[in-house]
Amino acid sequence: MQHPPISQSEIDARIHDHIDELLELWWAEQGASKPKDLELIASVIPLPRDQAIRALDLCCGPGDVGRAIRHVYPNAQIDSIDRDRFLTSICRAVNQRERIPGTLVVTDLYHDGWSDELRGDYDVVTAVNALHWFDEARAAQLLKDVHATLGRGGLFLLAEPACLEEPFVAGFNEWKARQAPRYTRDNWQRFWSRANALLGYDHTTLLGPSHSNRIGDDMSVAGWTRLLEGAGFGLVDVLLRDADQVVLGALKSERSEHGNRSISMVG
Ligand SMILES: C[S@@+](CC[C@H](N)C(=O)[O-])C[C@H]1O[C@@H](n2cnc3c(N)ncnc32)[C@H](O)[C@@H]1O
Repeated sequence: MQHPPISQSEIDARIHDHIDELLELWWAEQGASKPKDLELIASVIPLPRDQAIRALDLCCGPGDVGRAIRHVYPNAQIDSIDRDRFLTSICRAVNQRERIPGTLVVTDLYHDGWSDELRGDYDVVTAVNALHWFDEARAAQLLKDVHATLGRGGLFLLAEPACLEEPFVAGFNEWKARQAPRYTRDNWQRFWSRANALLGYDHTTLLGPSHSNRIGDDMSVAGWTRLLEGAGFGLVDVLLRDADQVVLGALKSERSEHGNRSISMVG
Protein backbone atom coordinates (compact mmCIF):
# COMPACT_ATOMS: atom_id res chain seq x y z
CA MET A 1 0.00 0.00 0.00
CA GLN A 2 1.32 3.45 -0.90
CA HIS A 3 1.85 6.18 1.68
CA PRO A 4 -0.91 8.81 1.84
CA PRO A 5 0.01 12.27 0.49
CA ILE A 6 -0.66 13.83 3.92
CA SER A 7 0.86 13.05 7.34
CA GLN A 8 -0.71 10.84 9.99
CA SER A 9 -1.50 13.88 12.16
CA GLU A 10 -3.21 15.56 9.20
CA ILE A 11 -5.31 12.42 8.58
CA ASP A 12 -6.25 12.38 12.26
CA ALA A 13 -7.19 16.08 12.18
CA ARG A 14 -9.28 15.88 9.00
CA ILE A 15 -11.50 13.03 10.23
CA HIS A 16 -11.54 14.04 13.91
CA ASP A 17 -15.05 15.53 13.92
CA HIS A 18 -16.50 12.80 11.71
CA ILE A 19 -15.55 9.59 13.48
CA ASP A 20 -19.11 8.50 14.32
CA GLU A 21 -20.36 9.31 10.83
CA LEU A 22 -17.52 7.22 9.34
CA LEU A 23 -18.21 4.35 11.74
CA GLU A 24 -21.90 4.31 10.74
CA LEU A 25 -20.93 4.17 7.06
CA TRP A 26 -18.36 1.44 7.78
CA TRP A 27 -20.94 -0.67 9.62
CA ALA A 28 -23.36 -0.32 6.69
CA GLU A 29 -20.59 -1.34 4.30
CA GLN A 30 -19.69 -4.36 6.42
CA GLY A 31 -23.21 -5.80 6.26
CA ALA A 32 -26.09 -6.20 8.70
CA SER A 33 -24.98 -9.58 10.07
CA LYS A 34 -21.54 -8.47 11.24
CA PRO A 35 -22.60 -7.38 14.78
CA LYS A 36 -24.01 -10.88 15.37
CA ASP A 37 -20.77 -12.48 14.14
CA LEU A 38 -18.70 -10.25 16.43
CA GLU A 39 -20.97 -10.94 19.39
CA LEU A 40 -20.47 -14.67 18.78
CA ILE A 41 -16.70 -14.26 18.50
CA ALA A 42 -16.54 -12.43 21.83
CA SER A 43 -19.00 -14.80 23.51
CA VAL A 44 -17.14 -18.05 22.82
CA ILE A 45 -13.94 -16.98 24.58
CA PRO A 46 -13.76 -19.54 27.40
CA LEU A 47 -12.40 -17.24 30.11
CA PRO A 48 -14.06 -15.48 33.07
CA ARG A 49 -15.70 -12.25 31.87
CA ASP A 50 -13.95 -10.09 34.46
CA GLN A 51 -10.48 -11.32 33.48
CA ALA A 52 -8.06 -8.76 32.05
CA ILE A 53 -7.54 -10.84 28.93
CA ARG A 54 -5.00 -9.81 26.29
CA ALA A 55 -6.32 -9.82 22.73
CA LEU A 56 -4.81 -9.00 19.35
CA ASP A 57 -7.04 -7.83 16.48
CA LEU A 58 -5.24 -8.72 13.24
CA CYS A 59 -6.13 -6.44 10.28
CA CYS A 60 -8.20 -4.39 12.71
CA GLY A 61 -9.39 -1.68 10.29
CA PRO A 62 -11.53 0.72 12.36
CA GLY A 63 -11.38 -1.74 15.29
CA ASP A 64 -14.86 -3.30 15.48
CA VAL A 65 -13.62 -6.73 16.58
CA GLY A 66 -11.45 -5.52 19.45
CA ARG A 67 -14.27 -3.38 20.78
CA ALA A 68 -16.74 -6.28 20.56
CA ILE A 69 -14.35 -8.27 22.79
CA ARG A 70 -13.95 -5.35 25.16
CA HIS A 71 -17.74 -5.13 25.41
CA VAL A 72 -17.84 -8.68 26.84
CA TYR A 73 -14.50 -8.36 28.67
CA PRO A 74 -14.54 -4.85 30.20
CA ASN A 75 -10.99 -5.30 31.55
CA ALA A 76 -9.48 -6.59 28.29
CA GLN A 77 -6.39 -5.08 26.75
CA ILE A 78 -6.81 -4.84 22.99
CA ASP A 79 -3.77 -4.67 20.72
CA SER A 80 -4.47 -3.97 17.06
CA ILE A 81 -2.53 -4.17 13.83
CA ASP A 82 -3.27 -3.05 10.27
CA ARG A 83 -1.41 -1.39 7.40
CA ASP A 84 -3.98 1.34 6.65
CA ARG A 85 -3.27 4.76 8.18
CA PHE A 86 -6.79 6.07 7.63
CA LEU A 87 -8.72 3.04 8.99
CA THR A 88 -6.37 2.79 11.98
CA SER A 89 -6.86 6.50 12.61
CA ILE A 90 -10.56 5.72 13.21
CA CYS A 91 -9.59 2.76 15.43
CA ARG A 92 -7.19 4.88 17.50
CA ALA A 93 -9.68 7.74 17.92
CA VAL A 94 -12.54 5.48 19.06
CA ASN A 95 -10.40 3.32 21.35
CA GLN A 96 -8.88 6.41 22.99
CA ARG A 97 -12.33 7.92 23.44
CA GLU A 98 -13.57 4.69 25.04
CA ARG A 99 -10.37 4.42 27.14
CA ILE A 100 -9.51 0.97 25.81
CA PRO A 101 -5.90 0.13 26.68
CA GLY A 102 -3.65 -1.45 24.07
CA THR A 103 -0.99 -0.97 21.41
CA LEU A 104 -1.88 -0.14 17.82
CA VAL A 105 0.75 -1.04 15.23
CA VAL A 106 0.54 0.24 11.65
CA THR A 107 2.45 -2.12 9.41
CA ASP A 108 2.04 -4.39 6.40
CA LEU A 109 1.52 -8.02 7.36
CA TYR A 110 3.49 -9.04 4.28
CA HIS A 111 6.55 -7.84 6.23
CA ASP A 112 8.30 -10.51 8.26
CA GLY A 113 8.69 -9.29 11.81
CA TRP A 114 5.23 -7.71 11.81
CA SER A 115 4.75 -8.81 15.42
CA ASP A 116 8.04 -7.39 16.73
CA GLU A 117 6.36 -4.37 18.36
CA LEU A 118 3.69 -6.50 20.04
CA ARG A 119 4.04 -8.14 23.43
CA GLY A 120 2.75 -11.56 22.38
CA ASP A 121 1.51 -14.25 24.77
CA TYR A 122 -2.09 -13.40 23.84
CA ASP A 123 -5.18 -15.11 25.22
CA VAL A 124 -7.03 -14.40 21.99
CA VAL A 125 -6.13 -13.38 18.45
CA THR A 126 -8.85 -12.45 15.95
CA ALA A 127 -8.97 -11.91 12.20
CA VAL A 128 -12.23 -10.78 10.60
CA ASN A 129 -12.40 -10.37 6.83
CA ALA A 130 -8.66 -10.25 6.82
CA LEU A 131 -6.75 -13.37 5.79
CA HIS A 132 -8.45 -13.73 2.41
CA TRP A 133 -6.58 -10.57 1.30
CA PHE A 134 -3.36 -12.63 1.31
CA ASP A 135 -2.12 -15.36 -0.98
CA GLU A 136 -2.28 -18.85 0.48
CA ALA A 137 1.43 -19.13 1.27
CA ARG A 138 1.40 -15.84 3.19
CA ALA A 139 -1.84 -16.72 4.99
CA ALA A 140 -0.26 -20.05 6.03
CA GLN A 141 2.79 -18.19 7.40
CA LEU A 142 0.60 -15.64 9.21
CA LEU A 143 -1.30 -18.49 10.87
CA LYS A 144 2.01 -19.93 12.10
CA ASP A 145 2.96 -16.47 13.39
CA VAL A 146 -0.42 -16.18 15.13
CA HIS A 147 0.08 -19.60 16.70
CA ALA A 148 3.48 -18.46 17.99
CA THR A 149 2.13 -15.21 19.40
CA LEU A 150 -0.64 -16.93 21.38
CA GLY A 151 -0.01 -18.07 24.92
CA ARG A 152 -0.56 -21.70 25.84
CA GLY A 153 -4.21 -22.63 25.45
CA GLY A 154 -4.77 -19.39 23.51
CA LEU A 155 -7.62 -19.08 21.04
CA PHE A 156 -7.65 -17.85 17.46
CA LEU A 157 -11.02 -16.69 16.14
CA LEU A 158 -11.47 -15.88 12.47
CA ALA A 159 -14.31 -14.93 10.16
CA GLU A 160 -13.52 -15.19 6.46
CA PRO A 161 -15.34 -15.75 3.17
CA ALA A 162 -15.70 -19.44 2.39
CA CYS A 163 -16.81 -21.30 -0.71
CA LEU A 164 -17.96 -24.91 -0.78
CA GLU A 165 -16.15 -28.04 -1.87
CA GLU A 166 -16.75 -28.90 -5.53
CA PRO A 167 -19.72 -31.33 -5.34
CA PHE A 168 -21.81 -28.74 -3.46
CA VAL A 169 -20.87 -25.59 -5.38
CA ALA A 170 -23.56 -25.44 -8.07
CA GLY A 171 -26.53 -25.99 -5.75
CA PHE A 172 -25.08 -23.72 -3.07
CA ASN A 173 -24.58 -20.86 -5.54
CA GLU A 174 -28.13 -21.29 -6.77
CA TRP A 175 -29.37 -21.01 -3.18
CA LYS A 176 -27.00 -18.12 -2.38
CA ALA A 177 -28.35 -16.08 -5.30
CA ARG A 178 -31.71 -16.03 -3.48
CA GLN A 179 -30.21 -14.70 -0.20
CA ALA A 180 -29.82 -11.00 0.62
CA PRO A 181 -26.22 -10.02 -0.20
CA ARG A 182 -24.01 -9.13 2.75
CA TYR A 183 -22.11 -6.47 0.80
CA THR A 184 -23.31 -3.97 -1.81
CA ARG A 185 -21.35 -1.74 -4.14
CA ASP A 186 -23.51 1.24 -3.06
CA ASN A 187 -22.53 0.88 0.62
CA TRP A 188 -18.84 0.54 -0.32
CA GLN A 189 -19.17 3.67 -2.46
CA ARG A 190 -20.90 5.65 0.31
CA PHE A 191 -18.15 4.90 2.84
CA TRP A 192 -15.23 5.61 0.52
CA SER A 193 -16.65 8.68 -1.19
CA ARG A 194 -17.24 10.30 2.22
CA ALA A 195 -13.78 9.21 3.42
CA ASN A 196 -12.11 10.62 0.29
CA ALA A 197 -14.01 13.91 0.61
CA LEU A 198 -12.90 14.32 4.24
CA LEU A 199 -9.31 13.29 3.54
CA GLY A 200 -8.99 15.50 0.45
CA TYR A 201 -7.47 12.76 -1.74
CA ASP A 202 -8.56 9.39 -3.13
CA HIS A 203 -7.47 6.95 -0.45
CA THR A 204 -8.72 3.92 -2.40
CA THR A 205 -6.06 4.45 -5.10
CA LEU A 206 -3.38 3.87 -2.42
CA LEU A 207 -4.61 0.33 -1.80
CA GLY A 208 -3.12 -0.75 -5.12
CA PRO A 209 -4.41 -3.57 -7.30
CA SER A 210 -5.68 -6.68 -5.53
CA HIS A 211 -2.99 -9.32 -5.13
CA SER A 212 -3.52 -11.59 -8.15
CA ASN A 213 -3.11 -14.76 -6.07
CA ARG A 214 -5.10 -13.61 -3.08
CA ILE A 215 -7.39 -16.21 -1.54
CA GLY A 216 -10.51 -14.09 -1.99
CA ASP A 217 -13.68 -16.18 -1.94
CA ASP A 218 -11.93 -19.34 -3.14
CA MET A 219 -11.16 -21.16 0.13
CA SER A 220 -13.60 -23.72 1.52
CA VAL A 221 -14.18 -24.32 5.22
CA ALA A 222 -12.16 -27.51 4.83
CA GLY A 223 -9.38 -25.44 3.24
CA TRP A 224 -9.30 -22.94 6.14
CA THR A 225 -9.33 -25.84 8.59
CA ARG A 226 -6.37 -27.50 6.83
CA LEU A 227 -4.42 -24.21 6.96
CA LEU A 228 -5.10 -23.87 10.69
CA GLU A 229 -4.09 -27.46 11.41
CA GLY A 230 -0.97 -26.98 9.28
CA ALA A 231 -0.05 -24.01 11.48
CA GLY A 232 -0.17 -26.24 14.57
CA PHE A 233 -3.64 -25.58 15.98
CA GLY A 234 -4.87 -28.64 17.82
CA LEU A 235 -8.63 -28.17 17.82
CA VAL A 236 -10.58 -26.35 15.09
CA ASP A 237 -14.34 -25.91 15.15
CA VAL A 238 -16.91 -24.20 12.93
CA LEU A 239 -18.80 -21.69 15.05
CA LEU A 240 -21.08 -20.42 12.29
CA ARG A 241 -21.44 -20.42 8.54
CA ASP A 242 -23.80 -18.50 6.28
CA ALA A 243 -24.06 -17.75 2.56
CA ASP A 244 -20.91 -15.64 2.59
CA GLN A 245 -18.55 -16.59 5.32
CA VAL A 246 -17.46 -18.95 8.05
CA VAL A 247 -16.55 -18.21 11.65
CA LEU A 248 -13.94 -20.62 13.01
CA GLY A 249 -12.37 -21.11 16.40
CA ALA A 250 -8.91 -22.69 16.72
CA LEU A 251 -7.23 -23.63 19.95
CA LYS A 252 -3.51 -23.67 20.60
CA SER A 253 -2.77 -26.90 22.35
CA GLU A 254 -1.89 -26.77 26.04
CA ARG A 255 1.23 -28.77 25.26
CA SER A 256 4.54 -27.02 25.80
CA GLU A 257 7.19 -26.56 23.10
CA HIS A 258 8.61 -29.95 24.13
CA GLY A 259 5.32 -31.75 23.77
CA ASN A 260 4.63 -32.17 27.50
CA ARG A 261 1.17 -31.32 28.69
CA SER A 262 1.33 -28.26 30.93
CA ILE A 263 0.09 -29.49 34.30
CA SER A 264 0.56 -27.86 37.65
CA MET A 265 2.63 -30.00 40.00
CA VAL A 266 0.76 -30.85 43.14
CA GLY A 267 2.38 -32.17 46.33
C1 LIG B 1 -12.45 -5.78 5.17
S1 LIG B 1 -11.33 -4.94 6.21
C2 LIG B 1 -11.74 -5.65 7.79
C3 LIG B 1 -11.28 -4.80 8.94
C4 LIG B 1 -11.70 -5.28 10.32
N1 LIG B 1 -11.18 -6.60 10.63
C5 LIG B 1 -13.20 -5.24 10.49
O1 LIG B 1 -13.80 -6.31 10.67
O2 LIG B 1 -13.78 -4.16 10.46
C6 LIG B 1 -9.74 -5.68 5.82
C7 LIG B 1 -8.59 -5.04 6.56
O3 LIG B 1 -7.41 -5.77 6.22
C8 LIG B 1 -6.35 -4.82 6.15
N2 LIG B 1 -5.26 -5.40 5.35
C9 LIG B 1 -5.36 -5.90 4.10
N3 LIG B 1 -4.14 -6.28 3.67
C10 LIG B 1 -3.27 -6.02 4.67
C11 LIG B 1 -1.87 -6.20 4.83
N4 LIG B 1 -1.13 -6.70 3.84
N5 LIG B 1 -1.29 -5.84 6.00
C12 LIG B 1 -2.05 -5.32 7.01
N6 LIG B 1 -3.38 -5.10 6.91
C13 LIG B 1 -3.98 -5.47 5.75
C14 LIG B 1 -7.00 -3.61 5.51
O4 LIG B 1 -6.23 -2.44 5.71
C15 LIG B 1 -8.35 -3.58 6.20
O5 LIG B 1 -8.34 -2.83 7.37
